[in-house]
Amino acid sequence: MAAIKTVKLNNGVDMPLEGFGVFQVTDLTVAEQAVTEALALGYRLLDTAQFYQNETAVGKAILKSPVPREDIFLTTKVWVSNAGEEKARASVMQSLQNLQTDYLDLVLVHQPYGDYYGTYRALEQLYHEGVIRAIGVSNFLPDRYVDLVKNVEIVPAVNQLETHVFYQQKEARQWLQKYGTQIESWGPFAEGGHGLFTNPTLTRIGQQYQKTAAQVALRFLVQSGIVAIPKTVHQDRMAQNLAIWDFELSETDMAKIQALDEEQTVFEDHRDPKFVERINGLRV
Ligand SMILES: NC(=O)c1ccc[n+]([C@@H]2O[C@H](COP(=O)([O-])OP(=O)(O)OC[C@H]3O[C@@H](n4cnc5c(N)ncnc54)[C@H](OP(=O)(O)O)[C@@H]3O)[C@@H](O)[C@H]2O)c1
Repeated sequence: MAAIKTVKLNNGVDMPLEGFGVFQVTDLTVAEQAVTEALALGYRLLDTAQFYQNETAVGKAILKSPVPREDIFLTTKVWVSNAGEEKARASVMQSLQNLQTDYLDLVLVHQPYGDYYGTYRALEQLYHEGVIRAIGVSNFLPDRYVDLVKNVEIVPAVNQLETHVFYQQKEARQWLQKYGTQIESWGPFAEGGHGLFTNPTLTRIGQQYQKTAAQVALRFLVQSGIVAIPKTVHQDRMAQNLAIWDFELSETDMAKIQALDEEQTVFEDHRDPKFVERINGLRV
């Protein structure tokens, strides 16, 4: 297997360009098994969150894996119900305990709701204390992101956004580039929505390289410099999703995929008041 490339974050920390996500893997046995298999296959970036309720399973898999902790790039997130300086600090402490580790590679403010400035200040403090190697945000669309950058001490190292072939975040990427924040894609397959796995353009392009539509969709992201964290609980798909480092999409194919951009979410609009209402009601 060709090696996964890394990207240097704005504080000099190296982050793998591809990793493994565990959203919606709520069965802890399944989550532990999936992370165990992912590490054995070569994934080194793991993406969890307090909200996913599976940090303990991720921690167990890391602990029993022969892969040294320092070779793993471990990300978790602080949920909205833990917003604010004190609660966020306690949330990270709980995550450390759940994950059975004494440091985290990346901690993100999960959503730009509640007292997220307080949350971010807690992360800055933990960064200074050496508990977190890099700090960032998630779901901060350009307006929230720029406002944060203008009012905090540490520019976020990462902003994790819904990003896939149908929503390529071209505008957000320009803002992130301006201030030096790495984009990370969540939902790199649009969770299979929009017929991504059978999309004719992706399928046709894949045939030229003996790759699946899924592999083309992922390769497009990493080749564009976007960190991608696909989720699957199936070992064959984990291997398939990792086999994207032995080919390169031509400029023509990249342009064809760029043309698939619909410039809008395939899920829910994070600026929709009903969405904000619902998210504020979800507790961990
Ligand atoms: N920050 C945020 O707010 C946020 C939001 C959403 C997600 N995330 C992060 O991003 C990660 C990835 O996003 P996601 O889990 O929402 O969705 P995703 O990775 O876009 O898609 C996952 C879906 O694709 C299927 N799949 C995976 N590989 C496949 C393949 N090669 N062929 C066919 N089907 C395949 C999976 O099914 P099976 O599992 O059955 O194989 C699952 O149904 C999450 O796990 C999480 O870590 C973050």
